[in-house]
Amino acid sequence: MTVGWVDVDGERYPATDGEKVRDERVVDGLRLWHPRRSKASAALVKGVDIPLEDARVLYLGGGAGTTPSYFADAARAVYAVEFAPSPASRLVDVAGTRDRLFPVFADARKPSVYAGIVEGVDVLYQDVATRGQADVAVKNAPFVRDGGRVYVVVKARSEDVTAEPEEKYEEVADRMEDAYDVDRTVDLSPFYDDHAVVIARR
Ligand SMILES: C[S@@+](CC[C@H](N)C(=O)[O-])C[C@H]1O[C@@H](n2cnc3c(N)ncnc32)[C@H](O)[C@@H]1O
Repeated sequence: MTVGWVDVDGERYPATDGEKVRDERVVDGLRLWHPRRSKASAALVKGVDIPLEDARVLYLGGGAGTTPSYFADAARAVYAVEFAPSPASRLVDVAGTRDRLFPVFADARKPSVYAGIVEGVDVLYQDVATRGQADVAVKNAPFVRDGGRVYVVVKARSEDVTAEPEEKYEEVADRMEDAYDVDRTVDLSPFYDDHAVVIARR
């Protein structure tokens, strides 16, 4: 249950030892976690530490389950919240391949819906890519244990297509201070344009 690293064509990539779920490459028995296919991988490649081993994780914006599947290879439990029916159905399929991945079909702006099943998580990871990204993170703060780690992917264009991305990252980080101690913001280029991850602690 660890995130390892593999060398391919002169580059280092994160990798996990779970069952393959899409067309990802498998190198030396490990699933290559490509930074252009997952913002969490891009963050890891850029030196961000995401302590997944044995962690309980609340994952907001689970999508079709690609990144949640990697998280579930390393973590103790991953609760992946997704509200759109089509990705949610693919997330459910991926969860069928992982004992530690629990899909939650709900709106992350209404966390009371899943309050009965999620509590005291070590890691909150959010990738909702919609307007109001900071509000979602603040609303979900009560689920994070004291000292828990928080990673909020900010898609600047989801907040305002005309604004400078840095301005939006700063706005999100400022608003997150209502519930967290913000540590730093890491830009995810060159893997993702106009995306950054705000790193904080509860
Ligand atoms: C960028 S995609 C997620 C990709 C996924 N994190 C991955 O790396 O595999 C963003 C997802 O967040 C979902 N989403 C957006 N707002 C949401 C909300 N309020 N509650 C739950 N899911 C939401 C969208 O439906 C979409 O599937």
